[in-house]
Amino acid sequence: MSGLFIILLACFKQYINYIMQILIINGPNLNKIGIREPEIYGNRDFNNYLDELSLLFNSYNLMSFQSNSENEIVDRILDHSENVEGIVLNAGAFTHTSVAIRDAIASVNLPVVLVHISNVYAREQFRKNNILAPVCKGVITGFGLDSYKLAIYSLI
Ligand code: DQA
Repeated sequence: MSGLFIILLACFKQYINYIMQILIINGPNLNKIGIREPEIYGNRDFNNYLDELSLLFNSYNLMSFQSNSENEIVDRILDHSENVEGIVLNAGAFTHTSVAIRDAIASVNLPVVLVHISNVYAREQFRKNNILAPVCKGVITGFGLDSYKLAIYSLI
């Protein structure tokens, strides 16, 4: 009986100490946010914005990863499918081209919210082709860096 009580207590402690993990993935050229085409993407540094998000969502663990390589993004989605509860993904230009990233999202049993800083539907025709949207939980586009904040709200 006391053994069972100890196990229940341990589970309860783990439950109350549990912190939801959210992974933010940024794709190609998004390491240049703040410098790159500021008239479209703004002039704020992403890491600076991330610090603000971490303060706002201080009871969650926000992890962030950026890569210009498609294979690294695929690996990150697959490798983290077991230890995060949700992914916020800005795949950049891969949004419009990557079957590999689409298949990775479809392979994991995780909510993935796709974000865009700019409103891709108000831009060039090729940006309206979104290969990833059908396998994502939803898409947030056009709210500047706050697209990330809205995506996190949609996951928690
Ligand atoms: C973007 C939109 C994409 O079309 C573009 O290739 C990007 C950024 C955005 O956040 O608005 O790199 O994903």
